[in-house]
Amino acid sequence: MKGISVGIRGVGSYVPERRLTNQDLERMVDTNDEWIVTRTGIRERRIAAPDEATSDLALKASVRALEAAGLAADELDLIVVATITPDMFFPSTACLLQDRLGARKAAAYDLSAACSGFIYALANAAGLIASGMYRNALVVGAECLSRITDYSDRNTCILFGDGAGAVVLGPVPEGRGFRSFVLGADGSGGDLLKVAGGGSRLPPTADTVAQRRHFIEMNGREVFKFAVRVMGNAAEEALEKAGLGKADVDLLIPHQANIRIIQSALERLGLPQEKCVVNLDRYGNVSAASIPLALAEAVEDGRVREGDRLLMVGFGGGLTWGASVLVW
Ligand code: ACO
Repeated sequence: MKGISVGIRGVGSYVPERRLTNQDLERMVDTNDEWIVTRTGIRERRIAAPDEATSDLALKASVRALEAAGLAADELDLIVVATITPDMFFPSTACLLQDRLGARKAAAYDLSAACSGFIYALANAAGLIASGMYRNALVVGAECLSRITDYSDRNTCILFGDGAGAVVLGPVPEGRGFRSFVLGADGSGGDLLKVAGGGSRLPPTADTVAQRRHFIEMNGREVFKFAVRVMGNAAEEALEKAGLGKADVDLLIPHQANIRIIQSALERLGLPQEKCVVNLDRYGNVSAASIPLALAEAVEDGRVREGDRLLMVGFGGGLTWGASVLVW
C-alpha cells in the first residue's frame, strides 16, 4: 500500500448472551449434533435478544475498540459498518452508531459485501487514511443474522449467528500496518446466496412473507466449492502483493463459515492448525462480524504479538471475496 502507513490501533468485540446449541436445533428441525459438527464444525451460536439490533451489538464492540485504542469517539473522522443486517434500510447503521457514540466529526456509511464486508470496509477506510484524507477510522463488522435466518430450513439455520467486531484504524510507524488488500466479486453467482425479498425487486407483501422470501436462500454445495477456490487464490494473491511467502504467515484469520473450508485453506497454504484462529465452534458464521470477532479474541488471548504477520481472508454472498496482509 502506498502513502501513510495505516494499521489497527485497537480491537473490540461483543456477542449476545443467548446461546443456540446444536441440541436446541435438534428440537427445531430434522438434524443432529453429529451431522452439524462433522459437516461444519459448529457447536453453538449466539442469538440477539428481541430488543437487540445490529447497531446495539456494533455499539458495544466499538466502545471496547475505542477504549483499547485510547481514542475518544469525537476524534473519529470516519465510521464504516459492514453488514447485511442493518437495523433498517436507512438511516445506515453507521449513522445510528455515530449518534450513539457521540462521534460528531465522523462521516458514516454502511458497506454491503456480505461475509467479505469487513475486509472490503478495511480496504476502504485504510485507503482514505493512507491518502491523507482522514486520520482515525472505526471499522465495524456487525450482524444479526438470526433475523434473516429461516429456522425451518435445516440447510441454513444451523450455520448462522449474531455478533460484532470493531477495529480502530489510524497511522502506525513505518514497517507496520496493512501491506496488501485483494478484493474481488463475481456477480454472476449472486443467486447462490441471497435474501430475495424486501428490496425494490420484490417489495414486502403478505405473499413474500408467506413464501419466506425474507430469509437467506443458499445453494450450500456450490458456495462451498466457490469458497474453497477463492480462499486459497485470494490468500496467495494478498501474500504476493505484500512481497511475502506462505511460510511468513504468523497467524491466519479466516472467515468462519465451515471448518472444512478453513482446513482446505490451511492445506493450500501449507500452514499448521495452530497458526489459524477458529471460533466458529462457538459462534457459527457471523458474516461480516466473523473476521473482526476472531481477530479481537486472538488479540485479547495474547496470540498476536508486535511484528506478527497476519493474513485475513474471507468470501461471501455477491459473490465476493477479500484478503489482506497486515504487520501487527
Ligand atoms: N442436518 C442433517 N442433514 C442435513 C442438514 C442438516 N442440518 N442439512 C442438509 N442435510 C442433508 C442434505 O439434505 C443432504 O441430504 P441428501 O443427500 O439426502 O440430499 C445431505 O445432508 C448432504 O447435503 P450437502 O448439502 O451435500 O452437505 P454438505 O456436505 O455440502 O454440507 C453445508 C452442507 C454445511 C451447507 C456446506 O455445503 C457448506 O458449508 N457450504 C458453504 C456455506 C457457506 O459458507 N455459506 C455462507 C457463505 S458466507 C455469507 O455471505 C453469508
